Amino acid sequence: MLLPIRKYGDPVLETPSEPITEFGTPELEELAANMFETMWANKGVGLAAPQIGLLKRITVVDVSAGEDESQKLVLINPEIIHTEGTQIGEEGCLSIPGFREDVKRAMVATVRARNLKGEIFEVRGEELLARAFQHELDHLNGILFLKHLSVLKRDLIRRKIRKLVKAGEWT
Ligand code: NI
Repeated sequence: MLLPIRKYGDPVLETPSEPITEFGTPELEELAANMFETMWANKGVGLAAPQIGLLKRITVVDVSAGEDESQKLVLINPEIIHTEGTQIGEEGCLSIPGFREDVKRAMVATVRARNLKGEIFEVRGEELLARAFQHELDHLNGILFLKHLSVLKRDLIRRKIRKLVKAGEWT
């Protein structure tokens, strides 16, 4: 099922999420499946629960954008346990459509998380995958990529979005 994506300006996007405590339920499986479907339909490589209005610490990531089943990751209650290096690259967000900016991130990020059954696992990402981990985990803490931009760039984007809101083009 496709879920509506919350856009910048919705306070749910800037509120920290709560840990998930129940695993292995059909509801959790369905939530993850719906999140993948919604992410792929919108051509994203990651989607976090606050983006669908749910303040729970779950995110889905697929840097193959639906091309390779083995790249599908469900990260529940994830934490970044190790980072290395830096990368600067363009980043966007399904909750801030139409805006992409360079963001500095770690080049490598290792995440420890639980899967749908509640089992703990670790996954190491480089480049785009590391970027996706950092971006999606930020979402679970109520942080958007705009926060990593200079005040000048952030204000410029905010002004443009305010205009779109006024014009009824930001819903
Ligand atoms: Ni995002």
